[in-house]
Amino acid sequence: MSEQFDAVEVIAAKRDRHDLSDAQIDWVVDAYTRGVVADEQMSALAMAILLNGMNRREISRWTNAMIASGERMDFSSLSRPTADKHSTGGVGDKITLPLAPLVAACGVAVPQLSGRGLGHTGGTLDKLEAIPGWRASLSNAEMMAQLEEVGAVICAAGAGLAPADKKLYALRDVTGTVEAIPLIASSIMSKKIAEGTGALVLDVKVGSGAFMKNENQARELAETMVGLGTDAGVKTVALLTDMSTPLGRTAGNACEIAESVEVLAGGGPADVVELTVALAREMLQAAGRVDVDPADVLASGRAMDTWKAMIRAQDGDPDAPLPVARETHDVLAATDGVLTRLDAMAVGVAAWRLGAGRSRPGEVVQAAAGVVMHAKPGDTVRAGDPLLTLHTDTPDRFERAVEALAGGYDIGAEPAPARSVVIDRIT
Ligand code: URA
Repeated sequence: MSEQFDAVEVIAAKRDRHDLSDAQIDWVVDAYTRGVVADEQMSALAMAILLNGMNRREISRWTNAMIASGERMDFSSLSRPTADKHSTGGVGDKITLPLAPLVAACGVAVPQLSGRGLGHTGGTLDKLEAIPGWRASLSNAEMMAQLEEVGAVICAAGAGLAPADKKLYALRDVTGTVEAIPLIASSIMSKKIAEGTGALVLDVKVGSGAFMKNENQARELAETMVGLGTDAGVKTVALLTDMSTPLGRTAGNACEIAESVEVLAGGGPADVVELTVALAREMLQAAGRVDVDPADVLASGRAMDTWKAMIRAQDGDPDAPLPVARETHDVLAATDGVLTRLDAMAVGVAAWRLGAGRSRPGEVVQAAAGVVMHAKPGDTVRAGDPLLTLHTDTPDRFERAVEALAGGYDIGAEPAPARSVVIDRIT
């Protein structure tokens, strides 16, 4: 078959700062998925996009071309509206775990296709796999049945959804091109639009533990994604939220499950509760349910019932004891004072080095590895008290985890001004 374009022509156009035409974009994404455009050619194009950008039309076309590379799901036959949430990823970000059953208990179905962690940010599936028996892979039919019966599903995205993105994301990961805003926005949104949710709330993280280190970049990413969702007919809203310090008091797998269950039981850390309820309100509003207050539903215990049903539906035992690490190591406060800073990146890298995350796709993670934080910024600490407890099954990892934490926290005389978790809302 003769090809409509030549890959070198398309790469040179973006290299020379020209806009790509709709036909060029459709062709290059399709030809890459078919294997006609080679990895080295797509790498060069991704780098040209990172350096020279794309306009709104190009990003929208690129997103649609990635959606067209695979299947689209359709939840319109469900008896209730659907809403999904996507977080751009952070440290201790377990919010999906209490959020999905909470929103389902409020009457809106949550089809949450999640990923595994790579690098210092954790993956929701890795966390859930700490629960004995729990299964991440569901067929489309199983997913539909669970959405109808329980109202919430958290499972692995099947291979059929946006295969062009799967191939391109793996390539970006090894070519220094993950950070391009047009490529991040189209990658996330192609999967969410293909998934077929009616409403979508984006949690765009800002700070040291996030992809986007400053607020301007995060705002641009959020605005781009909200535009793509709205153009595709998905009611889309974004919250910009703080990721300069970890969310909650745990970063890891089993320890984050335990903390999420505390939230569902009516306790848990204030920042996790605040963000869970804020995102639930946005999801319910975007799905047209403004008559229920998620804070009341959380207090009623109904979200806990939905959590248990959701875990059981995927063969997990919600009442089974969670794995416990073989070894622990305390990091102690050197002086009396107030914890003024606890850096999200430092804690994320420490948890990763303890075995909670992976450095290569496919690596096995340790369910019990992670970091438990005994103090958060603003808390008073005393010399000799444990600030953090490190958990792992392989104690030779402690040294490198402790190194990651060096310079990652400050103890001072005065508390730093308190920061709100939600920084802004973008529609
Ligand atoms: N998550 C994605 O799915 N894609 C990106 O490009 C970045 C984060």
